[in-house]
Amino acid sequence: MIHDPQDDASHAAPADNPADAPAADDATALHRRRIRSFVTRAGRVSTGQRRALDDLGPRFVVPYSAALPDLEGIFGRSAPRVLEIGFGMGGTTAEIAGTRPADDFLGVEVHEPGVGALLKLIGEQNLTNIRIIQHDAVEVLEHMIAPDSLDGVHIYFPDPWHKARHHKRRLIQPKFVALLVSRLKPGGYIHLATDWQNYAEQMLEVLSAQPALQNIADGYAPRPDYRPVTKFERRGIRLGHGVWDLLFRRR
Ligand SMILES: C[S@@+](CC[C@H](N)C(=O)[O-])C[C@H]1O[C@@H](n2cnc3c(N)ncnc32)[C@H](O)[C@@H]1O
Repeated sequence: MIHDPQDDASHAAPADNPADAPAADDATALHRRRIRSFVTRAGRVSTGQRRALDDLGPRFVVPYSAALPDLEGIFGRSAPRVLEIGFGMGGTTAEIAGTRPADDFLGVEVHEPGVGALLKLIGEQNLTNIRIIQHDAVEVLEHMIAPDSLDGVHIYFPDPWHKARHHKRRLIQPKFVALLVSRLKPGGYIHLATDWQNYAEQMLEVLSAQPALQNIADGYAPRPDYRPVTKFERRGIRLGHGVWDLLFRRR
Protein backbone atom coordinates (compact mmCIF):
# COMPACT_ATOMS: atom_id res chain seq x y z
CA MET A 1 0.00 0.00 0.00
CA ILE A 2 1.23 3.46 -0.79
CA HIS A 3 0.19 5.76 1.98
CA ASP A 4 -2.31 5.19 4.70
CA PRO A 5 -3.04 8.34 6.68
CA GLN A 6 -4.78 6.22 9.29
CA ASP A 7 -1.36 5.01 10.31
CA ASP A 8 0.04 8.52 10.73
CA ALA A 9 0.77 9.24 14.37
CA SER A 10 -0.55 12.75 13.79
CA HIS A 11 -3.91 11.55 12.52
CA ALA A 12 -6.94 12.19 14.68
CA ALA A 13 -9.88 9.85 14.10
CA PRO A 14 -12.73 11.63 12.29
CA ALA A 15 -14.87 11.69 15.44
CA ASP A 16 -12.10 13.62 17.20
CA ASN A 17 -11.46 16.00 14.34
CA PRO A 18 -12.91 19.47 14.83
CA ALA A 19 -13.30 19.72 11.04
CA ASP A 20 -16.05 17.10 11.30
CA ALA A 21 -17.93 18.56 14.22
CA PRO A 22 -21.34 20.00 13.36
CA ALA A 23 -21.07 23.77 13.44
CA ALA A 24 -23.74 26.32 14.03
CA ASP A 25 -24.01 28.52 11.01
CA ASP A 26 -24.62 28.39 7.26
CA ALA A 27 -22.00 28.15 4.57
CA THR A 28 -19.02 27.95 6.87
CA ALA A 29 -20.78 25.25 8.84
CA LEU A 30 -21.53 23.29 5.69
CA HIS A 31 -17.93 23.62 4.64
CA ARG A 32 -16.67 22.47 8.04
CA ARG A 33 -19.10 19.57 8.21
CA ARG A 34 -17.82 18.04 5.00
CA ILE A 35 -15.94 14.86 5.72
CA ARG A 36 -12.66 15.17 3.92
CA SER A 37 -10.79 12.44 2.09
CA PHE A 38 -7.44 13.64 3.44
CA VAL A 39 -5.80 14.85 6.59
CA THR A 40 -3.42 17.77 6.44
CA ARG A 41 0.02 16.35 7.01
CA ALA A 42 3.00 18.47 7.94
CA GLY A 43 5.36 16.97 5.38
CA ARG A 44 8.89 18.23 4.98
CA VAL A 45 9.55 20.09 1.75
CA SER A 46 13.06 19.24 0.48
CA THR A 47 15.45 21.90 -0.78
CA GLY A 48 14.90 20.81 -4.38
CA GLN A 49 11.13 20.85 -3.97
CA ARG A 50 11.29 24.32 -2.38
CA ARG A 51 13.38 25.59 -5.27
CA ALA A 52 10.88 24.13 -7.74
CA LEU A 53 7.96 25.68 -5.82
CA ASP A 54 9.67 29.09 -5.92
CA ASP A 55 10.96 28.95 -9.50
CA LEU A 56 8.24 27.01 -11.32
CA GLY A 57 5.22 27.54 -9.07
CA PRO A 58 4.33 30.91 -10.60
CA ARG A 59 4.13 29.35 -14.09
CA PHE A 60 2.62 25.94 -13.36
CA VAL A 61 0.52 26.34 -10.19
CA VAL A 62 -2.96 27.75 -10.65
CA PRO A 63 -4.08 29.40 -7.39
CA TYR A 64 -7.34 28.10 -5.97
CA SER A 65 -10.24 30.49 -6.31
CA ALA A 66 -13.98 29.89 -6.29
CA ALA A 67 -14.28 30.97 -9.92
CA LEU A 68 -13.80 29.25 -13.27
CA PRO A 69 -10.26 29.86 -14.57
CA ASP A 70 -9.54 30.34 -18.27
CA LEU A 71 -7.85 26.96 -18.68
CA GLU A 72 -7.25 27.40 -22.41
CA GLY A 73 -5.42 30.62 -21.66
CA ILE A 74 -3.52 28.97 -18.80
CA PHE A 75 -2.40 26.00 -20.92
CA GLY A 76 -1.91 28.27 -23.92
CA ARG A 77 -3.80 25.99 -26.27
CA SER A 78 -7.02 24.08 -26.80
CA ALA A 79 -6.36 20.37 -26.20
CA PRO A 80 -8.10 17.39 -24.57
CA ARG A 81 -7.99 17.97 -20.81
CA VAL A 82 -7.55 15.34 -18.10
CA LEU A 83 -7.95 16.03 -14.38
CA GLU A 84 -5.85 13.96 -11.98
CA ILE A 85 -6.90 13.89 -8.33
CA GLY A 86 -4.38 13.16 -5.57
CA PHE A 87 -1.21 12.80 -7.68
CA GLY A 88 1.00 12.19 -4.63
CA MET A 89 4.62 12.84 -5.63
CA GLY A 90 3.60 13.20 -9.28
CA GLY A 91 5.75 10.45 -10.83
CA THR A 92 2.84 8.89 -12.67
CA THR A 93 1.49 12.30 -13.72
CA ALA A 94 4.81 13.33 -15.26
CA GLU A 95 5.23 10.01 -17.03
CA ILE A 96 1.74 10.08 -18.54
CA ALA A 97 2.08 13.74 -19.56
CA GLY A 98 5.39 12.90 -21.25
CA THR A 99 3.88 10.07 -23.28
CA ARG A 100 0.71 12.00 -24.15
CA PRO A 101 2.01 15.40 -25.30
CA ALA A 102 -1.20 16.17 -27.21
CA ASP A 103 -3.24 16.16 -23.98
CA ASP A 104 -3.23 18.63 -21.08
CA PHE A 105 -3.17 17.44 -17.45
CA LEU A 106 -4.52 19.36 -14.50
CA GLY A 107 -3.24 17.79 -11.28
CA VAL A 108 -4.89 18.44 -7.93
CA GLU A 109 -3.09 17.61 -4.69
CA VAL A 110 -3.24 19.01 -1.16
CA HIS A 111 0.20 17.90 0.00
CA GLU A 112 2.85 20.60 -0.58
CA PRO A 113 5.92 18.31 -0.87
CA GLY A 114 4.02 16.46 -3.63
CA VAL A 115 3.37 19.71 -5.47
CA GLY A 116 7.08 20.56 -5.16
CA ALA A 117 8.05 17.08 -6.37
CA LEU A 118 5.86 17.31 -9.48
CA LEU A 119 7.15 20.82 -10.25
CA LYS A 120 10.68 19.43 -10.04
CA LEU A 121 9.79 16.70 -12.56
CA ILE A 122 8.15 19.30 -14.83
CA GLY A 123 11.41 21.27 -14.79
CA GLU A 124 13.68 18.25 -15.29
CA GLN A 125 11.59 16.86 -18.15
CA ASN A 126 10.62 20.18 -19.74
CA LEU A 127 6.93 19.29 -19.57
CA THR A 128 4.58 22.00 -20.76
CA ASN A 129 1.24 20.16 -20.56
CA ILE A 130 0.76 20.01 -16.77
CA ARG A 131 -0.76 22.58 -14.43
CA ILE A 132 -1.31 22.09 -10.69
CA ILE A 133 -3.92 23.23 -8.19
CA GLN A 134 -2.98 22.72 -4.52
CA HIS A 135 -6.39 22.37 -2.92
CA ASP A 136 -9.18 19.95 -1.98
CA ALA A 137 -10.31 18.31 -5.22
CA VAL A 138 -13.98 18.42 -4.19
CA GLU A 139 -13.92 22.21 -4.04
CA VAL A 140 -11.84 22.41 -7.20
CA LEU A 141 -14.43 20.33 -9.05
CA GLU A 142 -17.29 22.38 -7.66
CA HIS A 143 -15.83 25.80 -8.39
CA MET A 144 -13.00 25.64 -10.93
CA ILE A 145 -14.11 22.99 -13.41
CA ALA A 146 -16.95 23.79 -15.79
CA PRO A 147 -19.73 21.23 -16.35
CA ASP A 148 -19.22 18.97 -19.41
CA SER A 149 -15.62 20.14 -19.85
CA LEU A 150 -13.22 17.27 -19.04
CA ASP A 151 -12.06 14.57 -21.42
CA GLY A 152 -10.84 12.34 -18.62
CA VAL A 153 -10.30 11.91 -14.89
CA HIS A 154 -7.47 9.91 -13.31
CA ILE A 155 -7.53 8.84 -9.65
CA TYR A 156 -4.74 6.42 -8.80
CA PHE A 157 -4.45 4.68 -5.46
CA PRO A 158 -6.69 7.05 -3.50
CA ASP A 159 -6.34 6.71 0.28
CA PRO A 160 -8.13 3.43 1.13
CA TRP A 161 -9.21 4.44 4.66
CA HIS A 162 -9.30 0.76 5.50
CA LYS A 163 -11.01 0.86 8.89
CA ALA A 164 -14.77 0.53 8.45
CA ARG A 165 -15.48 3.58 10.61
CA HIS A 166 -13.32 5.67 8.23
CA HIS A 167 -14.91 4.44 5.01
CA LYS A 168 -16.95 7.65 4.89
CA ARG A 169 -13.69 9.44 4.09
CA ARG A 170 -13.16 7.44 0.91
CA LEU A 171 -13.25 9.64 -2.16
CA ILE A 172 -15.19 7.25 -4.37
CA GLN A 173 -18.76 7.59 -3.12
CA PRO A 174 -22.00 8.13 -5.08
CA LYS A 175 -22.19 11.91 -4.48
CA PHE A 176 -18.58 12.49 -5.45
CA VAL A 177 -18.92 10.34 -8.57
CA ALA A 178 -22.04 12.29 -9.58
CA LEU A 179 -19.98 15.50 -9.28
CA LEU A 180 -17.18 13.98 -11.36
CA VAL A 181 -19.60 12.84 -14.05
CA SER A 182 -21.16 16.31 -14.25
CA ARG A 183 -17.70 17.74 -15.12
CA LEU A 184 -16.96 15.15 -17.81
CA LYS A 185 -17.89 15.70 -21.43
CA PRO A 186 -20.21 13.04 -22.84
CA GLY A 187 -17.77 10.34 -23.95
CA GLY A 188 -15.20 11.42 -21.35
CA TYR A 189 -13.60 8.70 -19.21
CA ILE A 190 -12.90 7.98 -15.54
CA HIS A 191 -9.86 5.82 -14.82
CA LEU A 192 -9.35 4.57 -11.26
CA ALA A 193 -6.77 2.21 -9.80
CA THR A 194 -6.40 0.75 -6.34
CA ASP A 195 -4.41 -1.97 -4.60
CA TRP A 196 -7.06 -2.43 -1.92
CA GLN A 197 -9.55 -5.14 -2.91
CA ASN A 198 -12.37 -3.98 -0.68
CA TYR A 199 -12.06 -0.44 -2.11
CA ALA A 200 -11.93 -1.85 -5.66
CA GLU A 201 -15.24 -3.58 -4.97
CA GLN A 202 -16.73 -0.34 -3.66
CA MET A 203 -15.45 1.51 -6.75
CA LEU A 204 -16.99 -1.03 -9.09
CA GLU A 205 -20.29 -0.91 -7.23
CA VAL A 206 -20.48 2.90 -7.10
CA LEU A 207 -19.45 3.46 -10.72
CA SER A 208 -21.72 0.69 -12.02
CA ALA A 209 -24.68 2.20 -10.14
CA GLN A 210 -24.18 5.63 -11.73
CA PRO A 211 -26.64 5.65 -14.68
CA ALA A 212 -24.61 8.19 -16.69
CA LEU A 213 -21.57 5.90 -16.75
CA GLN A 214 -20.83 2.86 -18.86
CA ASN A 215 -18.13 0.32 -18.03
CA ILE A 216 -15.64 0.16 -20.89
CA ALA A 217 -14.40 -3.22 -19.64
CA ASP A 218 -16.18 -6.28 -18.40
CA GLY A 219 -15.81 -5.67 -14.67
CA TYR A 220 -12.25 -4.56 -13.86
CA ALA A 221 -10.14 -3.30 -16.75
CA PRO A 222 -6.68 -4.39 -17.85
CA ARG A 223 -4.16 -1.66 -16.95
CA PRO A 224 -4.04 0.72 -19.94
CA ASP A 225 -0.51 1.10 -21.38
CA TYR A 226 -0.37 4.80 -20.50
CA ARG A 227 -0.55 4.11 -16.74
CA PRO A 228 2.95 3.17 -15.57
CA VAL A 229 3.46 0.54 -12.88
CA THR A 230 4.72 2.38 -9.79
CA LYS A 231 7.45 0.96 -7.55
CA PHE A 232 4.89 0.51 -4.74
CA GLU A 233 2.69 -1.42 -7.10
CA ARG A 234 5.59 -3.56 -8.27
CA ARG A 235 6.47 -4.36 -4.68
CA GLY A 236 2.83 -5.22 -3.92
CA ILE A 237 2.61 -7.47 -6.95
CA ARG A 238 5.82 -9.22 -5.84
CA LEU A 239 4.19 -9.82 -2.45
CA GLY A 240 1.18 -11.35 -4.19
CA HIS A 241 -1.18 -8.38 -3.76
CA GLY A 242 -3.58 -7.39 -6.49
CA VAL A 243 -4.12 -4.12 -8.35
CA TRP A 244 -7.46 -3.25 -9.91
CA ASP A 245 -8.05 -0.71 -12.70
CA LEU A 246 -11.52 0.59 -13.54
CA LEU A 247 -12.36 2.39 -16.77
CA PHE A 248 -15.78 3.94 -17.31
CA ARG A 249 -17.11 6.34 -19.92
CA ARG A 250 -19.81 9.00 -19.59
CA ARG A 251 -22.74 8.17 -21.85
C1 LIG B 1 -2.41 7.27 -1.34
S1 LIG B 1 -1.91 8.72 -2.12
C2 LIG B 1 -1.69 8.22 -3.79
C3 LIG B 1 -0.81 9.15 -4.56
C4 LIG B 1 -0.58 8.84 -6.05
N1 LIG B 1 -1.79 8.91 -6.82
C5 LIG B 1 0.09 7.49 -6.22
O1 LIG B 1 -0.47 6.66 -6.93
O2 LIG B 1 1.18 7.32 -5.68
C6 LIG B 1 -3.40 9.68 -2.20
C7 LIG B 1 -3.13 11.16 -2.41
O3 LIG B 1 -4.37 11.84 -2.58
C8 LIG B 1 -4.29 13.10 -1.95
N2 LIG B 1 -5.67 13.51 -1.68
C9 LIG B 1 -6.58 12.85 -0.92
N3 LIG B 1 -7.76 13.49 -0.92
C10 LIG B 1 -7.59 14.59 -1.71
C11 LIG B 1 -8.44 15.65 -2.09
N4 LIG B 1 -9.71 15.70 -1.68
N5 LIG B 1 -7.95 16.61 -2.90
C12 LIG B 1 -6.66 16.56 -3.32
N6 LIG B 1 -5.81 15.59 -3.00
C13 LIG B 1 -6.26 14.61 -2.20
C14 LIG B 1 -3.43 12.84 -0.72
O4 LIG B 1 -2.81 14.03 -0.26
C15 LIG B 1 -2.42 11.82 -1.24
O5 LIG B 1 -1.25 12.45 -1.72
